[in-house]
Amino acid sequence: MANRWFESVAVAQRRARRRLPRSVYTALVAGSERGATMDDNLAAFGELEFAPHVAGQPAHRELATTLMGQPLSFPVVISPTGVQAVHPEGEVAVAQAAASRGVAAGLSSFASKPVEEVVGANPKTFFQVYWSGTRDEIAARMERARAAGCVGVIATLDWSFATARDWGSPFIPDRLGVRAAVRLAPEALARPAWLWSYLRTGALPALTVPNMARPGEPAPSFFGAYGEWMQTPPPTWDDVAWMAATWDGPFMLKGVVRVDDAKRAVDAGVNAVSVSNHGGNNLDGTPAAIRALPAVARAVGDQVEVVLDGGVRRGSDVVRALALGARAVMVGRAPLWGLAANGRAGVENVLDVLRSGIDSTLRAIGRSSVQEVCDEDVVVPPGFLRQLG
Ligand SMILES: Cc1cc2nc3c(=O)[nH]c(=O)nc-3n(C[C@H](O)[C@H](O)[C@H](O)COP(=O)(O)O)c2cc1C
Repeated sequence: MANRWFESVAVAQRRARRRLPRSVYTALVAGSERGATMDDNLAAFGELEFAPHVAGQPAHRELATTLMGQPLSFPVVISPTGVQAVHPEGEVAVAQAAASRGVAAGLSSFASKPVEEVVGANPKTFFQVYWSGTRDEIAARMERARAAGCVGVIATLDWSFATARDWGSPFIPDRLGVRAAVRLAPEALARPAWLWSYLRTGALPALTVPNMARPGEPAPSFFGAYGEWMQTPPPTWDDVAWMAATWDGPFMLKGVVRVDDAKRAVDAGVNAVSVSNHGGNNLDGTPAAIRALPAVARAVGDQVEVVLDGGVRRGSDVVRALALGARAVMVGRAPLWGLAANGRAGVENVLDVLRSGIDSTLRAIGRSSVQEVCDEDVVVPPGFLRQLG
């Protein structure tokens, strides 16, 4: 068999592009409007420079940390993503990879696999919740996650349904009936390895969201659940406090970019915030998350754990985020490219790339642990930072 190991996330993405049907690949690229935020998430990391030492570096570097009470073997968590149709094993393969590398993973409410199966593969699972439906329905979803063994909740409240793209959106059917199959057949047939990976399981992607099912009812379709979510009025800060109190355990609010929101999140009783613009898939024109991180970390970093997600593609990006005040990062697309390129082994490969990149960066900058990384470790150019709110 061909050696499918890859040396960087960029290589994994190129393989994913070759392997996935065009619609599936484009759904993972995602982004919104002109893609300015998505691009800035990546570009901003390139603006942060290092000053490496030439001798006297530590021989051993400690990468382990904790987040929301969970030990992590290095400061990376897999961000929740709705990975419909990428790979037949989907979130279970991601969970197995996370477990084998000692990191936690978020599981999307819009995932293709039931939470029970995913927690079985990785006990360090945080269940991601949207504000969709009534309080009773949201509480029931969190109860199911608790019963399954999830060790934390990630509330993602930043979605504002702005999904129009200048480069066009892929056709995603409500379910794979005959008409949809005929329409998608040419691109699926052009990707025989992907198609075969499904056909040998005896099924095509179901495109249902089992973790959004009401108790005792079958899993709704992706668009069925999405429609209900769109009709739910946005949450208030009282709702956020209610969610955190109802879960009554490690609770992260994801999507915070403003200092005033971060302070309100602390008042609402959360334990962690993720400085995030949803990977540039939401309100285009929001600055890169890494630009907004230091102001948020300064304001609330002594009260809650602050993580960053958006644009992390290499271990040195993780160290840049730590230097600017993050305790850990979450990665969205990077593991998806790995999953698409080579299933579970591809996700493990991405985690290994990140881990060894963190280690070599620590060595170069002369730090013996991730806890030692501080703002002196990167050069922040004038005009880089954004204080929002
Ligand atoms: C295809 C795709 C699907 C996503 N689905 C979800 C989701 O279901 N829930 C959620 O909280 N965030 C979701 N996100 C956002 C990610 O959790 C994360 O914030 C973002 O991808 C980070 O940026 P990165 O991809 O540059 O690492 C999704 C992102 C992508 C690219």
